[in-house]
Amino acid sequence: MSARPYYIAGNWKMHKTRPEAAELARALAAALKGGKHRYLAAPGFTLIETVASIVKGTNIRLGAQNCAPEEQGAHTGEVSVLQLKDLGVDTIILGHSERRHVYKEDDALINKKVKLALAHGFEVILCVGELLEERESGRAEAVCETQTVKGLEGVAASDLGRVVIAYEPVWAIGTGKTATPEDADAIHAYIRKVVGRLYGEGAAEKILIQYGGSVKPENAAQLMAKENIDGALVGGAALKADSFVPIAMFS
Ligand code: PGA
Repeated sequence: MSARPYYIAGNWKMHKTRPEAAELARALAAALKGGKHRYLAAPGFTLIETVASIVKGTNIRLGAQNCAPEEQGAHTGEVSVLQLKDLGVDTIILGHSERRHVYKEDDALINKKVKLALAHGFEVILCVGELLEERESGRAEAVCETQTVKGLEGVAASDLGRVVIAYEPVWAIGTGKTATPEDADAIHAYIRKVVGRLYGEGAAEKILIQYGGSVKPENAAQLMAKENIDGALVGGAALKADSFVPIAMFS
C-alpha cells in the first residue's frame, strides 16, 4: 500500500444525451457521497454544462475528454481550454488511444495540448499504452516510455503535481480483456521509473498512475491492490451507476 490516494475516473466517451447524462451524474453524486477515493466524471463536450451543475460542490471532479492545441482562433470543430474553463472543467484527458489511433494524434500534438492545459491551470490525465502487436513483439515498455517522455516534454517539475498518467493497453480497451494485475503493475512500475529519471524519485513516488482497459466491479479491487496502480480510468463500466459505483467504492 502506497501513501498515494486512489483516483477513479469515468470516461463517458461519445455516449449519452443531456437527460441521460443528468440522470447518471445525479446517481453518482448521491452514491459517491462519503466515498473515500478521488473521483472524476468526463462527459462529452455538449453534456459538460449539464453535468457541471450537478457535480458542483460534490466530491466528483469535472473532466473533458480532449481540447484543442491552441487557445482560440480559426479551428473549426475544436473546443478550447478557455471554453472548458468557462464551463468549470477541472481535468482534461489527453492522448487517449482513440485520439492517437483513430484520429491520428501524435506525441508532439498531445504534448502541445498537455502544456496548454497545464498553463491554464487544469489537471491533465495523460494516457499511454501499447497496441497488441507492440506487446507481442516485446515493445510495451518502450512504447509507454516514449509516449510518457514525449507527452511530458517541457513540462515543469512544478506542474507535475497536476499530471496523472493513465496506462491503457490498447488491446484491453472496450474488449473485455483486462491486463492481469501483475502485467499492469509491471508497466506502471516502469512508467514510474521513467518519471523518476525525468523528475526525480520524490516526484515518481507521488505521481498517480491509473489503469484503464475493461475495468469492472469484478476486477477493480485486484488491480488496485497492486503497489503501483493508483486508480482506474473506466470507459464502458462508467456508463451506468450500477457498474461505476462498485468500482469507485472499492475497498
Ligand atoms: P473500457 O475503456 O473501460 O471500456 O475498456 C477505457 C478507456 O478507454 O478509457
